[in-house]
Amino acid sequence: MIPKKIGLFDSGVGGISVLGNLINSKTFEEIIYYGDTARVPYGTRSKETIIQYSLEALDFFKQFKLDLLVVACNTISAYGLEAMQKATNYPIIGVIEPGVLALTNNLQNKDSKILVLGTKATIQSQLYQTLLENQGYSCINSLATSLFVPLVEEGIFGGKILESVMEYYFQDYTEKPDAIILGCTHFPLISKTIAHYFQNKFPTPNKPILIHSGIAIMEYLKAKYTLQKPSIASKVTFYASDNLEKLKKTADLWLKEIN
Ligand code: DGL
Repeated sequence: MIPKKIGLFDSGVGGISVLGNLINSKTFEEIIYYGDTARVPYGTRSKETIIQYSLEALDFFKQFKLDLLVVACNTISAYGLEAMQKATNYPIIGVIEPGVLALTNNLQNKDSKILVLGTKATIQSQLYQTLLENQGYSCINSLATSLFVPLVEEGIFGGKILESVMEYYFQDYTEKPDAIILGCTHFPLISKTIAHYFQNKFPTPNKPILIHSGIAIMEYLKAKYTLQKPSIASKVTFYASDNLEKLKKTADLWLKEIN
């Protein structure tokens, strides 16, 4: 199967950070984005609720007859993915396995210090941590940095407020991580500020490797599927469970910010 018509599901606007990579790959004819903006955030909800919302999203996507669905949201990838895969007969790919794979491809030393950032739900699921341990990594720290989500939604990608929230979360770190997993859709928007924070605090030449879900998912899809020749201008259609106009405005801003 060559995926031509694909869906992209997120709890809200966050998946736009992954959409940019799918568009830039120029390999998909149609991308249907659905954000559950009426019920975002998922990252503070229980496993049961996240599974329920994830299955309800599948009902929405039924009308499109997709070749493949990408779950951009880390929180849904941690809790809802398995139930979604069982409920459908087309492939559904989450971002966590591709993220771990991207890290293993870029970081050979298993004693490297890895920092996993995510929502409360993603970190509590322990999925990143377990998959990394299965790959032999032994020095893993994880941290729920939920306050980054509303800041990014507010269009705050740098500056004093963000810096003080970073200080609040990272103040106890006494060593520079070798790699940081940006385990939430919103964090690629502030990846430069995160990298800068650690570089300032530990001014050694080696910079942490940053794992971005959008890059990881494209590497994963290229390895797993035969994709079309990279020459296509994808037709992107946005859907939202609330305030579609706001989602579209955010898409404009984020796609510019990321590119
Ligand atoms: N999209 C979510 C994630 O990547 C962040 C926003 C939310 O909590 O729903 O985990």
